[in-house]
Amino acid sequence: MSELTDHRQVDVLAASPPGYLSGFGNEHESEAIPGALPQGRNSPQRVAHGLYAEQLSGTAFTVARAANRRSWLYRIMPSARHPRFERLGPPHGATLRSAPFGDVDPDPNRLRWDAIPVPDVPTDFVDGLYTVGGNGDVLAHAGIAIHWYRANRSMVDRYFVNSDGELLIVPQAGGLRLQTEFGLLVVEPGEIAVIQRGIRFRVDLVDDTARGYICENYGRLFELPERGLIGANGLANARDFLSPVAAFEEVVRPVQVVQKFGGNLWAAEYDHSPLDVVAWHGNYVPYKYDLARFNVLGSVSFDHPDPSIYTVLTSPSDTPGFANADFVVFAPRWLVGEDTFRPPWFHRNIMSEFMGLVHGEYDAKAEGFLPGGGSLHNSFTSHGPDAETYRRASSQELQPQKIDDSLAFMFETRWPVVPTAFALAADHLQADYDAVWADLPRTFAP
Ligand SMILES: [Fe+2]
Repeated sequence: MSELTDHRQVDVLAASPPGYLSGFGNEHESEAIPGALPQGRNSPQRVAHGLYAEQLSGTAFTVARAANRRSWLYRIMPSARHPRFERLGPPHGATLRSAPFGDVDPDPNRLRWDAIPVPDVPTDFVDGLYTVGGNGDVLAHAGIAIHWYRANRSMVDRYFVNSDGELLIVPQAGGLRLQTEFGLLVVEPGEIAVIQRGIRFRVDLVDDTARGYICENYGRLFELPERGLIGANGLANARDFLSPVAAFEEVVRPVQVVQKFGGNLWAAEYDHSPLDVVAWHGNYVPYKYDLARFNVLGSVSFDHPDPSIYTVLTSPSDTPGFANADFVVFAPRWLVGEDTFRPPWFHRNIMSEFMGLVHGEYDAKAEGFLPGGGSLHNSFTSHGPDAETYRRASSQELQPQKIDDSLAFMFETRWPVVPTAFALAADHLQADYDAVWADLPRTFAP
């Protein structure tokens, strides 16, 4: 790291190479300057290098040890030193909405959107947030919101923090450099990142434009699902989750910190960058994960398994088995089931499903479900393979078959997802999604 100098606008963080600490929910520690991290205690009388100590709690103090998440940060200026936040009006947040969702009536129809265009006007990550819909209540810490993000510029002297929910970010086009209080996460399409509540960050683009999906989780923090009879290994393995190493920037000039709180955007002008954490330790830390590391388990005899077998992360609700949110991935895998209709079957579920496609083609839809697009199948909505997929899959000769070069995912939630008015009126909403099932033939022959 560069030496620390007063009042020089040294952007150490932006120049630092990404290094990572591995493991999910681990107690990590990292320091960008040797000796910055206190040893043997959290809050010494004087912290080395004149730093301030600060605790960031992601769970209540008294939450059971296994689920307790908090970190200690050692920073140039304490977070408390900032002026008043003021409401930030349009155009900021013009297409950002929060729960409770009630602009339009809950819709029982199957909905599908083409990829959302990246705007022509300068748009950063925050201004490009576009809410598809959601459920629950942001102030009750229950439910989710589903967003697209699209950007054509990095955030300049601007930082974001979400007090309402943690952000599960699924890049679809273009990489992101997530400059966080804890250090740098670089994520490309095929990877995901999770930035928890209350963590300040800036999004810089790797490429000219960026687009992707976000599950904003108002509920319990995402965790790895139990494996039950699967055993001690498989699905997403804890060692493959990567957290940043400490890196800071010493920027002393006016910057804007945008906070999402209670569903609205607020902003304050700081006189320094909030990414000034020189050292930290703890287990409340952003992380990323390469979906190619997901160990896909499936049927080696017959029948398509329930998609819960593809769960990467889950946010449990208060009712066991009914997730506030599941993040499920449909990654490359072999299909070998004998005497089996191999794509997803026709179904109606109590859980509600939003699906997205990072690249390739999803095996239940022959056409129309495109990378960057999305589909919403709400609670008890009838859906499944389209007519062309049904025809092909019910007549093909069953050889071992690799689903390759395809990456689809699902945000699944226990409550119906209410769309936003603008998502329902959008040009990229497909006008006649129902038609994909219209050509299913009557084949009944008593
Ligand atoms: Fe489904």
